[in-house]
Amino acid sequence: MQKNIVWHPSVVTKEDRHELNGHKSSVLWFTGFSGSGKSTLANELDAQLYKLGIRSYVLDGDNVRHGLNKELGFSPEDRVENIRRVGEVAKLFVDSGLIVMTAFISPYQKDRDQVRQLFRDDEFIEVFIDCPFDVCEDRDPKGLYKKARSGQIHDFTGIDSPYEPPVNPELTINTAENSVEEAVQLIIAFLEYKGIIT
Ligand code: PPS
Repeated sequence: MQKNIVWHPSVVTKEDRHELNGHKSSVLWFTGFSGSGKSTLANELDAQLYKLGIRSYVLDGDNVRHGLNKELGFSPEDRVENIRRVGEVAKLFVDSGLIVMTAFISPYQKDRDQVRQLFRDDEFIEVFIDCPFDVCEDRDPKGLYKKARSGQIHDFTGIDSPYEPPVNPELTINTAENSVEEAVQLIIAFLEYKGIIT
């Protein structure tokens, strides 16, 4: 806890922003292996929500690591700090009234649970992008698995760095079995069911 720092509450509340937007805010926390389809799904969902007039935004691991988290690598400590910061940014976005999709491997259950603690129960939706490791490695969209196998990259998730699948995610999507369109419709149906969008 910082000393001599006082929290300033917003004059415009989150609920005011929900009313203005015509929908509630929340975070859809995508987690899964590299190449599992987190970014693809998050961005297609973003596009569909935009078409529906819903205010949303994607925070993507590769992009955030170009700026805010550019000094962080892939050691366990750096991944913990990466996810801590992204959790805090996601909280600001939720306060601002948006539906935010985060596309980070976020390999540790403890870190995802800590992020969950930042939100109300109905605001945090953990989405397990459940794609078999072999399929992710076969896809290898950026050629990173090949580099990891040949020893050019170290600490690669699923090869020499762990991935802990979610224990109790709100949603599980198998991207080896479902198309992107099917997965997006599933998530939109979930948001409607939860009364986040109507
Ligand atoms: S983490 O674990 O949540 O901190 O990782 P994240 O911020 O999501 O970054 C993952 C993307 O970084 C690229 N990349 C690696 N991933 C895993 N392990 C290693 N060592 C690594 N090096 C680079 C990779 O493109 C990941 O993107 P996605 O979209 O997951 O494929």
